[in-house]
Amino acid sequence: TAPELLRNFSIIAHIDHGKSTLADRMLQATGVVQPRDMRAQYLDRMDIERERGITIKSQAVRMPWTVGTGDAARTYALNMIDTPGHVDFSYEVNRSLAACEGAVLLVDAAQGVQAQTLANLYMAIEGDLTLIPVLNKIDLPAAEPEKYAREIASIIGCDPEDVLRVSGKTGDGVPELLDRIVETVPAPAGEPTGPARAMIFDSVYDTYRGVVTYVRVVDGALRPRERIEMLSTGAVHDLLEIGVISPEPQPSTGLGAGEVGYLITGVKDVRQSKVGDTVTTAQDPATEPLEGYQDPKPMVFSGLFPVDGSDFPNLRDALDKLKLNDAALTYEPETSVALGFGFRCGYLGLLHLEIIRERLEREFNLDIISTAPSVVYQVTMEDRSTHTVTNPSEFPEGKVVDVREPVVSATILTPSEFVGTVMELCQSRRGTMTGMDYLSEERVEMHYTLPLAEIVFDFFDALKSRTRGYASLDYDMDGEQSADLVKVDILLNGDKVDAFSAIVHKDAAYSYGLMMTKRLKELIPRQQFEVPVQAAVGSRIISRETIRALRKDMLAKCYGGDISRKRKLLEKQKEGKKRMKAIGRVEVPQEAFIAALGAD
Ligand code: GTP
Repeated sequence: TAPELLRNFSIIAHIDHGKSTLADRMLQATGVVQPRDMRAQYLDRMDIERERGITIKSQAVRMPWTVGTGDAARTYALNMIDTPGHVDFSYEVNRSLAACEGAVLLVDAAQGVQAQTLANLYMAIEGDLTLIPVLNKIDLPAAEPEKYAREIASIIGCDPEDVLRVSGKTGDGVPELLDRIVETVPAPAGEPTGPARAMIFDSVYDTYRGVVTYVRVVDGALRPRERIEMLSTGAVHDLLEIGVISPEPQPSTGLGAGEVGYLITGVKDVRQSKVGDTVTTAQDPATEPLEGYQDPKPMVFSGLFPVDGSDFPNLRDALDKLKLNDAALTYEPETSVALGFGFRCGYLGLLHLEIIRERLEREFNLDIISTAPSVVYQVTMEDRSTHTVTNPSEFPEGKVVDVREPVVSATILTPSEFVGTVMELCQSRRGTMTGMDYLSEERVEMHYTLPLAEIVFDFFDALKSRTRGYASLDYDMDGEQSADLVKVDILLNGDKVDAFSAIVHKDAAYSYGLMMTKRLKELIPRQQFEVPVQAAVGSRIISRETIRALRKDMLAKCYGGDISRKRKLLEKQKEGKKRMKAIGRVEVPQEAFIAALGAD
């Protein structure tokens, strides 16, 4: 397709404002999906995406759209690149936007602009994209299109009349939106001839076809059966198949400048098809790479352990496979006294962690336990050595002079009546306010600097419940700060239980210690002797519980009794022992540790 007949766009929105539903209606309106094949959230292919109603991976789909009639009729190829909505995955939004010239800014007509609407909007403006403001869900009785059209207009500086109104539910306004895309989004610029340059914006591992790489061709063209070169590594591959997604993969005779599509080379590892890399041809290679993206960096770490120790190799295999699809996941082997062999994994955030866990359980049938999530700390010791700590049990021993933790700059949008509540919450999480703007009389945009460790766990839930669901949150990493952080250890009979060490703020150390010692006291069975359960900061004990000793020997019960019964009992105990973990002299069933980690 000639570049002047191409339009590449993305839909950006706050979570739940209806992006996937609108995408469904576009697939229908353009005839790409027949009514009988239609299913909700057509482009969300992973089971988890569908069930949770969220989009995790970007998707690109090509749709034909004809404008004008008779001789003046021209058919355009619209490439829609769907993007995820959750903050954990905002790096995916960034790279999708880099493949587009325009963005549909979608806003729920009953809710107005929310925190991620703004975050995505700023990204689109930075990327110099043409914006098409659209109010969605106008069929809702609670919709207030006039009010929110004014709000959007004042933020992006347009006329409220220019804000389109659609319903992803009924399909109202969708053809007008497609017309508007053709009319206002610029055709891709680029050099149609000369050395090829294509940007990789996603790559996905498919069991049957190997790695499928999604590209946006910027200059030149790529054709099947050519040899292609990855500019960053110089690796050369055979191009086995190239085509467009519409909405299933359709092989074609090549992709020209401005086109978006996929390619298959037969490589088995997504790392050889790196997102952000530039693809060129081996025959006539380009010299300058396109501007790439930053690699996503894991922010939250936790240990993953198989409940059944013999599953360790399976867990490794499963992580290898997931990694093929998810460049942001990192892992390395870890050994825990309490939990055995496992992996220390790095994630983008808590949602990412939950999704990985769920996929391991569901797609790979593994029973796993994860330790409490931790962020990355930089620890400086008295001898000036510095240590990067992602695992509390590896916190260095000795005199610590400084601990630095990651911080985020957060934007919270809230109705003005909740300003006080939000301030209280942020203060209790060690936040510092950096600014506050009134978007309108009723709506306030608040800016905070907050420690990442304070917001990754339950901050969002706390914010939602205190503002009756009305506040929204977005955040970006914003460097590090020094803080009064200490490591709390949990000791059983004087021995550390590694899986329960935590790095917490000094003021929270006591409550963490108390909670863990109480919990373990409940869960750990009595032993032949008295077992103290203690929490300690360094050598200082901050909390203690005691598990009292068992009074009678179990075997005494069948003393003089039937020998086979005694043997049976011993066998049973032996079997039980296999799953016992010894912490010093104390034998603890692994289930007790799992229960202690699982509880809230
Ligand atoms: P993510 O993929 O997680 O970013 O969410 P999304 O923005 O794609 O939202 P989605 O399309 O899943 O829609 C969220 C909810 O709003 C769903 O329950 C939809 O059924 C509903 N919804 C979407 N569009 C409309 C609409 O036009 N009218 C009404 N009444 N409901 C809608």
